[in-house]
Amino acid sequence: MKKLITAVVSLGLMVGASSAIADLNTEHKAFVSHFKSMFPNVELADYTNGVYALDEGSRDQFEEILDGIPPYEEAVEKGGEEFVKFGLGKCDALKDPAAARIKHPYFDEATQKVVTLEGVLKACYKEQTGKKLGSKKGKIARISAWISDQAAGEKVNVKVETAGAQAAYNEGKAFFYGKRGQFNMSCADCHVYNAGKKARADILSPALGHATHVPMYRAKWAGLGTLQRRYGGCLKNMRAKPINAQTDLMNNLEFFHQAMSNGLEITDARYRK
Ligand code: HEC
Repeated sequence: MKKLITAVVSLGLMVGASSAIADLNTEHKAFVSHFKSMFPNVELADYTNGVYALDEGSRDQFEEILDGIPPYEEAVEKGGEEFVKFGLGKCDALKDPAAARIKHPYFDEATQKVVTLEGVLKACYKEQTGKKLGSKKGKIARISAWISDQAAGEKVNVKVETAGAQAAYNEGKAFFYGKRGQFNMSCADCHVYNAGKKARADILSPALGHATHVPMYRAKWAGLGTLQRRYGGCLKNMRAKPINAQTDLMNNLEFFHQAMSNGLEITDARYRK
């Protein structure tokens, strides 16, 4: 196992100078094969289910919740009503909600920045209502979840095609693999190298598939939260410096992180404990 991990890590570090598209493809392949060798019995498509793909013990409970009326169903419906009520379909970037979910996050050449779905939602909401929208929970998470539902069954497809995009991706990747906080840990320490293992009362989910069910519902939150709300929670658990959601650094992390879920289906099964 150790050999394999070393191989994956060095692969990640070796690529860089060649063509941008080849880099993402190669790295994504290595990322997927790492999990394939760690969990040979887990189907690729099942990674959309996070920890429930690895932990049989809690899988039944997860399926029961999905078979009933999931605790987020009403909130997502409300998000759809809010989408209409606030006129968000009038913004070009959101007029086709399913397409919007698939397109974001993307690298915008004009601004040389990553644009996230939540970033677009915030801008559009401001344009239509004159008011500010939060970044992590409540309205933005409900509306974003409803938008994602429209694209359920489509595949995550983040593109890294230019030098600017490659630089943003690289920054996100460096953050993901970089050690930080009081425990000197990286995101990858838990969600790549130790996926499936126990950390206190939790089993660690694989990073592969992390971006397929976002915004996620968490029983602990008793509500929905955006992917970047989750980043905030994990940074806190790592006793690392907090970083505001929807800043360039968090958007670059999301750009890399979502790209690692490329090819997996977007799902409306948002429940996590
Ligand atoms: C000390 C271990 C640890 C570290 C380090 C860590 N996390 Fe987590 N993370 C967890 C635990 C525990 C959970 C809840 C169980 C699960 O789904 O993995 C979680 C959940 C998540 C989820 C939700 C998964 C889902 O299926 O909904 C995401 C996304 C995530 N972490 C991203 C990150 C990112 C990005 C970083 C780095 C900034 C990070 N984590 C660092 C322990 C960690």
